[in-house]
Formats: sequence, C-alpha cells, structure tokens
Amino acid sequence: MSTRILGIESSCDETAAAVVADGREILSSVVASQVDVHRKYGGVVPELASREHLRQIVPVVREALAHAHMRLEDVDAIGVTQGPGLVGALLVGITYGKTLAQSLGKPFVPVNHLEGHVHAVFLEAHKAGSRPKLPAVCLIVSGGHTVLYAVSAADSGARDATALFHYRKLGQTRDDAAGEAYDKVAKLLALGYPGGPILDRLAAAAGGAPAPVKFGPTKTRGNPLDFSFSGLKTAVLYHLREHAEYSAELRKREEALARGERKFDQLLPLCSPATLGLVREFQNAVIRDLVGRTMAATEELGVESILVSGGVAANSQLRATFEERAKAAGVEVFFPSRALSTDNAAMIAAAAYPRLRAGILADLMLNADPSLALA
Ligand code: KG4
Ligand code: ZN
Repeated sequence: MSTRILGIESSCDETAAAVVADGREILSSVVASQVDVHRKYGGVVPELASREHLRQIVPVVREALAHAHMRLEDVDAIGVTQGPGLVGALLVGITYGKTLAQSLGKPFVPVNHLEGHVHAVFLEAHKAGSRPKLPAVCLIVSGGHTVLYAVSAADSGARDATALFHYRKLGQTRDDAAGEAYDKVAKLLALGYPGGPILDRLAAAAGGAPAPVKFGPTKTRGNPLDFSFSGLKTAVLYHLREHAEYSAELRKREEALARGERKFDQLLPLCSPATLGLVREFQNAVIRDLVGRTMAATEELGVESILVSGGVAANSQLRATFEERAKAAGVEVFFPSRALSTDNAAMIAAAAYPRLRAGILADLMLNADPSLALA
C-alpha cells in the first residue's frame, strides 16, 4: 500500500492542497490563487491574504481529496508549510492541518516551503522518468526568495528524493527577490500584477527594438554568489522619470488596467518600442545574474546537476538560457512544469514524505515560523 500524504500550503497568496503518494505520484493538486484580491494593490496584502486563506482552505482541501477519490480517513499523514512566509497566512494552514491531524489521529509533518520548491523539481523529474544526480546546485527564485543552495542526500547511499536532503546556503539576495523586481518594474511601467508573466511575453515581443538604456552587471560586495535586484528596479524608475516621452503611454496603460484590460494582447499595442526595449534589457539583466551566479556555483562545486524552482522558474527566457549554458558546461538542468514552479501543495506533500519516514513530526505546539531557514 502506498503512503498518501495530504499537503497544505498557505504561506503567501495561494491556498493549496494536494495528495501525493509515496512522495512521488501526484494524485491531486488544487491551487486557489488570490491574485485578483491583491491585484489592485500591486502586491500581496498580508491581512487580505489571511482572510482569503480562511475562506478557501476548507473547500480547497475538500476538492483535493475529491480529485484523488479519497476521504479524509484515507489520508496517511498531513504535511503543512511551517514557514517561511507571512505569519497570518501560515497560521491558517497550520491550524487547519493540526485540527485535521488531531481529529483523525494521523501524523502531522511540518515542512519548510523552500524544501517544497526543491521537491517540485523531483516530482517533475519523476514524471519524466529522469533522476537529477546529487549533489546539485539549486536556485529557488520567486516573489519572496532568491537563494542558491548546495543540495545533497543526507544519507550518501540514498538514491532519490524519497530520502532526506541536506542543504548548504551558497548565496541569497541582499534586498529584493527576483520575482519582486519583476512585480515592481511592472508596476512602474503600468503593466499590471503580477509582473513576471507579462514582462516575460513583452520581452519576447521586443525583438530587435533598440535598447533605451543598458543595465550593467550588479555587484555585491563580499559573497560573489549573493544577488541584488533593488538597484535595477531603481534604475528603471530613474530612467522613466528622466524621460518624459514615456508619460503618455504610461497613462494609457493605467487607463486600460483600470478598465480591466490587462491581457498581453491588450497591453502590447500600448507599448512603444522604447518600452519593449526597456523590458527586454531589464529581463536580460535579471537573467544574466541568476544564470551567471548559478553557473559559477555549479563550476565551483563541480556538480553535474542544476535544479531551478519557484515562480520565476516559469520564465521562458530563463529556461532557455539555463538550457543553453548547462549544455555548454556539460551539466544537466531540471525545472518543474510551470504549474509546479509556482506555489502549490503537491511539493509540500512530496517534501513531507521523507520527513514522515524519518519520524520528523510535529505536535499541537507547532507554530508558524515566518523566517524558517533551510540552512
Ligand atoms: O513561487 P511563487 O508563486 O510565489 C512566491 O513564493 O513568491 O512566485 C510568484 C512570483 C511573482 O513575483 C511573479 O511575478 C513571478 O513569480 N513569475 C514570473 C513568471 N511567472 C511568475 N517571473 C518571471 N517570468 C515569469 N514567467
Ligand atoms: Zn514559493
């Protein structure tokens, strides 16, 4: 009989539940996004996030069980995101998970959200019949995180993701996360929220539009594997302020957004070649840093695989650039599908499995840890 874990995720702005068998087979995965709630604020509003999680958590869990053709009693354990994330948001998932575990008499497994993102890569690899070699370098890049880890099997004899991993932090952002930079730049350019998906498509549509500005590589004193994105965002802000010619199109796009016209096809005609060139240069700068530092870490450690996860891992150019650079370096790069790149609960249920097997359980005293570290 397989071990079926119900995963619950509520660390930020997605309420998610999933059932995963033996840490590998996704039986169901349901994600209720709150993006419509936070859109008009151009970012996640913590109080609203908690309130939405409260509204969504019960129906989302129910739906995940229904898709897996299971009843609550059939679940073998409950895995919940303990942190990092927004404390009020985390508490909704933790409290609900705790109540379920207690009332059903099932093991309750605390999971680090970042470890979930690592497992998303392994879930995908399993689907594709491949197995990333360990040790690996892992880049987690989302709206809340930009961090590089060395990942190895805690037990060197372990052969896959159903065993515990060991993590060593190699570098992280000193300021904004890369996804946050996408969201803030999209806001500056009146391109809606979240910024990543639309900037991704506009950059691809830019073609050979002239570059109105060039962004040099960001420098971080100290650790060469650290990242920094706030300077890039400020550079975009200053560029827009110094060039009055952007103001008419910015106003037009603001009006379009106010009418609810936020689709790529609706916004593209409202972007001048200069704006498209600016978006492309911004994206090139972000990707140059993300890929450059990850490749440097890979070389330094002499590993053969790279794992890339988190919302920004959905970016088409980031994927293509990684594929190209990894091929040239003779290493393999692994991504989750787009659906598993952004926050979901399948990755939480998968990460809970080796912990359950190792007996790493929580009791009713478990609290949310907004800054829970992986290493
Ligand atoms: O992992 P995620 O769903 O939530 C966090 O844990 O933050 O990531 C959301 C972030 C947002 O900042 C969003 O703009 C970014 O991922 N994102 C993208 C793309 N799709 C989502 N960034 C760049 N290109 C994309 N295609
Ligand atoms: Zn995340």
